[in-house]
Amino acid sequence: MMINKRLIGLVPESKKAIAMQVTVQWLAMICNIGLITASCYLLQELYYRNVTSDALFTLYLPVFIIAIFLRSIFMKLSVRSSFQASHIVKKRLRRMIMEKLIKLEGHYMNNSSTAQLVQLSTEGIEQLETYFGSYLPQFFFAMLAPVTLFVIIAPFSFKPALALLICVPLIPISIALVQTFAKKLLSKYWGQYTALGDSFLENLQGLTTLKIYQSDALRHEQMNEEAEKFRKITMKVLTMQLNSITIMDLVAYGGAALGILLALFEYRSGAISIFVCMAIILLSADFFLPMRTLGSYFHIAMNGMAASDKIFKLLDLEEPPIKTVQLDKGEKGIRIDHLTFDYDGKEILHDLSLNIKANTFMAIVGESGSGKSTLANCINGVLKTKEKMIYIQEKDITEIKASSLHQNIVTVSFDSYLFSGTVRDNLVLVNHDSDEKMIEVLKKVRLWDFLCEENGLDTVLQEGGNNLSGGQRQRLSLARALLHDGDIYIFDEATSNIDSESENEIMSLIGEMAHTKTILLITHRLANAVGADQIAVLKDGYLDALGTHEQCLKQSEQYAHLWQTQAALEGTI
Ligand SMILES: Nc1ncnc2c1ncn2[C@@H]1O[C@H](COP(=O)(O)OP(=O)(O)O)[C@@H](O)[C@H]1O
Ligand SMILES: [Mg+2]
Repeated sequence: MMINKRLIGLVPESKKAIAMQVTVQWLAMICNIGLITASCYLLQELYYRNVTSDALFTLYLPVFIIAIFLRSIFMKLSVRSSFQASHIVKKRLRRMIMEKLIKLEGHYMNNSSTAQLVQLSTEGIEQLETYFGSYLPQFFFAMLAPVTLFVIIAPFSFKPALALLICVPLIPISIALVQTFAKKLLSKYWGQYTALGDSFLENLQGLTTLKIYQSDALRHEQMNEEAEKFRKITMKVLTMQLNSITIMDLVAYGGAALGILLALFEYRSGAISIFVCMAIILLSADFFLPMRTLGSYFHIAMNGMAASDKIFKLLDLEEPPIKTVQLDKGEKGIRIDHLTFDYDGKEILHDLSLNIKANTFMAIVGESGSGKSTLANCINGVLKTKEKMIYIQEKDITEIKASSLHQNIVTVSFDSYLFSGTVRDNLVLVNHDSDEKMIEVLKKVRLWDFLCEENGLDTVLQEGGNNLSGGQRQRLSLARALLHDGDIYIFDEATSNIDSESENEIMSLIGEMAHTKTILLITHRLANAVGADQIAVLKDGYLDALGTHEQCLKQSEQYAHLWQTQAALEGTI
């Protein structure tokens, strides 16, 4: 019942913190019982006029003060250990999820349902925090408290004590009964909730269309109707929840009343003293209150269970086998063999075969959406492909360690990320190169003149490089990539925001690099591709043409057409 062994097993350290919390809560209760019985005893002695003022100050008063003092200390400790338990759980679960994600090696990135799972399970941690910090300790305390009270009261007055103890389980039983009724209602509620959310989002996204066709008024009415339905069922759920609290209270206070009644009978028959009778009256509610608090934590338990399901699902995902293959030093060719790739079952790349020889320059062109970036991300390992489709140095990419791929393949895309910090900070991300080397590269990408007017290598960048222009950001990303000494370079529209004059210079730089590096250049500007050793033309994820510029002009109508329009625009024809 709402206690999951595997969940607790996940965080064995939490057991100690929970035990600690239950213990201090229990000690606080003992102090409370001491306080109440002492008060009752004092009242009885006052009633019989047995108390001397001496006893009042040397006995009763110190007892009260100590009990109150200890109780407040235990309460404080309880709050602290609750915090500790939740802290331990949070830290541990975060670590586990992190480690799992590392082991999954980004396999979840092509798959949206897994990506969603990752998100949900991280959110779930917050919910488990209260599960461990509040619900679990309360669960044990709610068992322990009535038994303790029974053990204390029973020797004085057995019958009322037994009656009170027996009534306590009625609370969870009544909750369970309410739950069976509530289940149907709740699932209906969630159904309507998601339906409302979906149609709201849809209408919002299509609002312009609705306005154009002037059918927004009708939709408005439909939405109002749906919202009204949802309001009604929400009210039902709230009523149900209120009722369940009422039922719990009925059981709790009814049970207490029963115990009190029995105690009064015992007192009348002379079986117990007035002190015992008063103490039972005052303590009877304490039998039930912990269980009632537990009942009000019920939603925490439900959420905790749901959250742990998600986390277990993530933790149970199959991990790819540990990879050991590393790329060798030296030149690297890429062979793509009948590559197909899909996002969530939607095939984007179809049966692509390409051979990019080491230290050659291949350009990839094609309309936007034809799959160029997808291809690039298959080659650099960001996207996970099936085995035996991509080989680097004739090694299957699916067997190569991710770190080895990252070390050897440098990707610069049009929106490569820059970090806040100085220009130097961003450049030493890769290597600890000398200032001279950094400046040399910054000159090559034509950024140095600009930086000189600022603060040189110490020019401060805002987060994401927002204080630079798009072109300047791209130049800096390029400089960073050039400093990184990889053997394969992938440029994905890396110069899309740079003026064509500087772009030409960067292109000749890239052309030079091709003597010692394998280069893959994705570009929408065909003029950049002309100098490549080979050009691959992609069309809707198919290879439309492959060869030199001249060959592609003949093989691909699309390429020839694009070439003519672009050349006309740039005035080269
Ligand atoms: N993460 C993704 N999830 C689902 N579909 C995607 C994703 N990224 C790209 N696509 C789809 O794949 C196709 C190819 O995209 P992309 O490789 O970015 O093309 P290109 O770089 O040639 O413009 C497009 O139809 C695009 O909508
Ligand atoms: Mg792209």
